Order: sequence, then C-alpha cells, then structure tokens
Amino acid sequence: MANLFPKATNIIVLKAGAALGLVGTLAALGVWYYLTPKYSRVGYQPQQPVYFQHDLHVGQLGLDCRYCHSYVEKSGFSNYPTTQTCMNCHAQIQKDNPRLAPVRDSWATGKPIEWVKIHNVPDYAYFNHSAHVNRGVSCVSCHGHVNEMNVVFQDQSQSMGWCLSCHRHPENYVRPIAADKPGVQSPIYNLNWTAGVKQDEIGKKLVHDWKIDPPTDCAGCHR
Ligand code: HEC
Ligand code: HEC
Ligand code: HEC
Ligand code: HEC
Ligand code: HEC
Repeated sequence: MANLFPKATNIIVLKAGAALGLVGTLAALGVWYYLTPKYSRVGYQPQQPVYFQHDLHVGQLGLDCRYCHSYVEKSGFSNYPTTQTCMNCHAQIQKDNPRLAPVRDSWATGKPIEWVKIHNVPDYAYFNHSAHVNRGVSCVSCHGHVNEMNVVFQDQSQSMGWCLSCHRHPENYVRPIAADKPGVQSPIYNLNWTAGVKQDEIGKKLVHDWKIDPPTDCAGCHR
C-alpha cells in the first residue's frame, strides 16, 4: 500500500492543532493517530537474543506449535518456551554451537531468555488465545505461515478493523479442531493442511453447528 500519510502529515496536524488551541491539538492528534495506517506494524521483526528459526524447528523438524507455546489453548496468553524446553534437545544437539551460547548461559544461571514480544494488543482491548484456538481459528489466520518463517515477523496488522473483519465473517476462517485421522496433527496447528476441504463449505457448516458468534459490539472487546 502507498504511504498515505507521509511524515510531513504529523507536522501539519500539529500546526493545525496549535491553531485550534489545546482541545483542538488533542482532537487533531486523536484523528491523526486513528488515521495512521496500522499497516506500519506489518513486517515488524525485532532482533531476538537468540537466532531461533521457526522454519527449521517447525517446518523441517515438524515440531507442533504447542511443544513450545504450551499454554496457547489453555490460557489467554500464549507463553514463550522455557530454556528447559530448548535444552530437551540442545543438551545433546549442537552443544558447542556459539549461536546457542545464550541458551546455555540461561540454563546455567537460571535467568530466563528475554524474548522480545512482537505482537501487541493495547491494554484497553481484550484478547484471549484459548477463546480463538478452541473455536477453530488457526494460528495461520492471525500470524501467517510461521512454519516457513526463518525469523518471526508480524504478518497481520492486528488493528481493530482487522479483528472485526473476521468477527463479521468467521465462516471465511474457522476450521475443524480435531484431526480426522489418528496420528495426524490437528488442522488448526498443521499449517499446511488443505486436505481438499473447501473453506466456503466447511466454514459455514462449522459456524452453524458450533453456533460461532464472535462479538462485534464495543463492549465485547473493550471491557
Ligand atoms: C521449538 C520451540 C518452538 C516451536 C515448536 C514454535 N515456536 Fe513460536 N516461538 C518460539 C520462540 C523461542 C519464540 C520467541 C523468539 C522469536 O520470536 O522467534 C517464538 C515466537 C513466536 C511468535 C511471536 C510471538 C510474539 O512475540 O508476538 C509467534 C507468533 C509464534 N512463535 C508462533 C508459532 C507457531 C504458529 C508455531 C507452530 C507452527 C510455533 N510458534 C512453534 C519457539 C517455538
Ligand atoms: C526437538 C529438538 C529441538 C528442540 C526442542 C529445540 N531445537 Fe534447536 N535445533 C534442533 C536441531 C535438530 C537443530 C539443527 C541441527 C543441525 O542443523 O544439524 C537445531 C538448531 C538450532 C540452532 C542452531 C542454528 C544454526 O543454524 O546455527 C539454534 C540457535 C537453536 N536450534 C535454538 C533453539 C532454541 C532457542 C530452542 C528453544 C526455544 C530450540 N532450539 C529447541 C533441535 C531442537
Ligand atoms: C485470533 C487471532 C490469533 C490466533 C488464532 C493466534 N494468535 Fe497468537 N497472538 C494474537 C494476538 C492479537 C497477539 C498479541 C496479544 C497481546 O498482546 O495481548 C498474539 C500473541 C502471540 C504470542 C506472544 C505472547 C502473547 O500471548 O502475547 C505468541 C507466542 C503467539 N501469539 C502464538 C500463537 C500460536 C502458537 C497460535 C496457534 C496455536 C496463535 N498464536 C494463535 C492473535 C492470534
Ligand atoms: C480469523 C478470525 C478472528 C480474528 C482475526 C479475531 N477473532 Fe476474536 N473471535 C473469533 C472467533 C471464531 C471467536 C469465537 C466466537 C464464539 O465462541 O462464538 C472469537 C471470539 C472473540 C472474543 C470473545 C471470546 C472471549 O474471550 O470472551 C473476543 C473478546 C475476541 N474474539 C477478541 C478479538 C480481538 C481483540 C481480535 C483482534 C486483536 C480478534 N478477536 C481477532 C475469530 C477471530
Ligand atoms: C473485535 C474486537 C473489537 C471490537 C468489537 C471493537 N474494538 Fe475498538 N479496538 C480493538 C482493538 C484490538 C484495538 C487496538 C487496535 C490497535 O492496536 O491498532 C481497538 C482500538 C480502539 C480505539 C483506539 C483508536 C485506534 O484505532 O487505535 C477506539 C477509540 C476504539 N477501539 C473504539 C471502539 C468502539 C467505539 C467500538 C464499537 C463500535 C469498538 N472499538 C469495537 C478491538 C475491538
């Protein structure tokens, strides 16, 4: 998308605000903030303390998301893995790789690794992982194909309009939760799941059968 609000807009808004006095300034800033595209957050990829690769660990080794993000279906917050989780393998594998030095240090000292949080919903809006994952919303709908990302970045804007675009049409996104074959990963975690199922057929059926009705009123998300 083209840059609709170049930097100079900030200054123009501030100048216009000054001309209107304090109340005007606040209103103008509010409008400016509201109009600034949230797309700017897409692609956010901060430097992490360890070069951790999702494409290697998930895409190639085939680890389930829940091996590391073990609370994602049980709680509102999706946890980061503990150092112990990494050491389940790395006590043996790549013991001398310098890229794993911060992991070994953390294990030795007991000081957790300080992962940098990428996705952020402000405190005035309510978000809960388990309420989504247990109702058939796949990680991929909100985080993109993490299994193919070398280093994770923000894939979706996660603005209010983005939340609402799904809440108004959940049938375009919801998927079966359970795997249809024993030993096969659940379709909401298995990101390459296509299995010939058509979203427009399965989505409507799930929304109907499970009575899926995400909130679209203000108080639903601003509690
Ligand atoms: C072997 C452990 C491991 C597995 C398996 C794993 N992750 Fe992660 N994940 C991490 C670690 C460590 C971080 C923090 C560092 C980073 O951002 O890369 C992370 C970060 C993330 C983030 C960014 C969170 C934020 O800060 O906003 C998302 C999204 C994510 N993982 C999704 C997934 C998904 C989806 C899967 C399954 C397809 C998955 N992860 C599987 C270890 C794992
Ligand atoms: C299920 C086992 C397993 C777990 C759990 C695991 N890893 Fe790995 N990791 C591997 C394997 C296998 C390799 C690749 C070895 C190779 O390339 O030969 C690897 C490679 C790495 C590398 C080296 C990458 C490179 O190119 O030099 C880093 C760094 C790493 N893992 C970090 C982590 C972190 C951080 C965690 C915990 C969040 C973690 N791993 C959890 C199995 C695991
Ligand atoms: C409905 C959209 C949605 C789905 C589905 C979803 N996430 Fe998230 N995820 C978010 C949002 C929004 C945030 C930021 C939450 C916050 O700041 O409170 C986030 C944050 C995270 C974080 C950082 C820690 C946290 O909770 O803030 C991790 C890790 C993560 N997600 C992993 C996953 C994994 C793994 C899956 C699939 C099992 C998944 N997410 C499914 C929207 C989603
Ligand atoms: C891809 C689809 C999708 C996206 C994106 C999405 N949601 Fe939802 N949301 C759902 C579905 C499906 C439900 C479950 C409705 C039900 O159980 O009937 C739900 C339920 C909820 C609920 C009610 C459940 C509870 O815990 O009270 C809240 C609140 C909510 N979502 C907030 C958000 C927020 C905030 C965002 C954006 C940051 C968001 N959602 C993004 C699909 C989505
Ligand atoms: C589906 C959940 C959801 C619903 C429903 C919802 N909001 Fe929001 N709202 C959010 C989220 C998430 C944010 C934070 C967006 C961001 O960080 O970009 C937000 C941000 C806002 C903001 C801050 C301005 C901005 O864009 O950053 C205002 C004001 C607001 N909402 C008002 C409302 C009003 C009024 C309603 C009812 C008409 C409403 N919201 C309904 C999720 C929701």
